[in-house]
Amino acid sequence: MSSPTPPVLALPGASDDLTARLGAGLEQVEALIVERTRNEDDFITEANLHLARAGGKRFRPMLTMLVAELGEGINDRVVAAAAGVELTHLASLYHDDVMDEADLRRGAPSANALYDNSTAILVGDLLFGTASDIIADLGADAVRIQARTFIRLCSGQIRDDRPCPPGQDAREYYRGVLADKTGVLVATAARYGAMYSGCTPEVVELVTEYGERLGMAFQLADDLIDISSESGETGKTPGTDLREGKRTLPVLNALASEDPADAELRELLTSDLREPERLERALELLRPHRAMADAREETLAVGRQAVESLAPLPDSDAKAALIALMEGVVHRVG
Ligand code: IPE
Ligand code: IPE
Ligand code: MG
Ligand code: MG
Ligand code: MG
Repeated sequence: MSSPTPPVLALPGASDDLTARLGAGLEQVEALIVERTRNEDDFITEANLHLARAGGKRFRPMLTMLVAELGEGINDRVVAAAAGVELTHLASLYHDDVMDEADLRRGAPSANALYDNSTAILVGDLLFGTASDIIADLGADAVRIQARTFIRLCSGQIRDDRPCPPGQDAREYYRGVLADKTGVLVATAARYGAMYSGCTPEVVELVTEYGERLGMAFQLADDLIDISSESGETGKTPGTDLREGKRTLPVLNALASEDPADAELRELLTSDLREPERLERALELLRPHRAMADAREETLAVGRQAVESLAPLPDSDAKAALIALMEGVVHRVG
């Protein structure tokens, strides 16, 4: 499958052998996804694979396989877990684009734009079902982890779509949303990689913590990219979060500014930004603003915390690659 979205996984310093093993593992993951999403109805097969064929970084399955390198390496169970995680992610994208009224995903029309909302929701449900079917091959423990991951992911998405409740700290609320809507699935991707490659329970625990923090940094970077990117760079429409009134970290930072020079920006950020000129103006003011630099700092700090979780592990190629992965995540532009 072609991948027009930029790879997050240029892992500087990874050996040729490691890169080749990860590439071969990813091919098996892709083959399993294609096999398990085939349907007797041709339209359903096509709708199932619409976004998978359009592109995507495959960040989560790569993480599962990379973590497996801390143990005995990639095997059929690791591949199945990686495919289950990517399908869970894929399904959440079908639903997310309905929620966020997004027309563009992976450089292609989103499923809601190409078909309609009902079809996008049902295909997402079908893909969640397929992910669970694959994960069930790994046994009851894997299914329970998948179920609890899904509960947290959906809780995060529900809370992302709602204002911070009165009396609650907006940053705390935002952090909780990051951890649930994105952190938990990245944590599960790492956890499965350790579980199915024979790692000890201690290693399973520490890579799960690494994954959750990495996932939070990944979402923080995504929220920066929504503001800083140009159309075409990401395969998504920039400014979608602002248009939808999402209080991401750069927005919270800008709203907290007491500088009179920020009055226009604060007014824009507390109003309806559905009108394109107002959205464009808000983006223009926000891009060079200190609020972005501060949010970037925080993204780096969370990335560093992720790497700290790996401290007890002995040095290895895989550990070095997991550290390089964090750098790729926090500095990514797509
Ligand atoms: C997008 O995830 C949704 C977020 C959690 C930010 P990715 O950035 O991994 O999307 P793809 O899979 O590469 O399209
Ligand atoms: C979505 O977050 C996170 C998911 C759990 C799918 P976003 O709404 O920021 O993701 P993008 O930017 O549309 O990919
Ligand atoms: Mg979205
Ligand atoms: Mg969203
Ligand atoms: Mg986003």
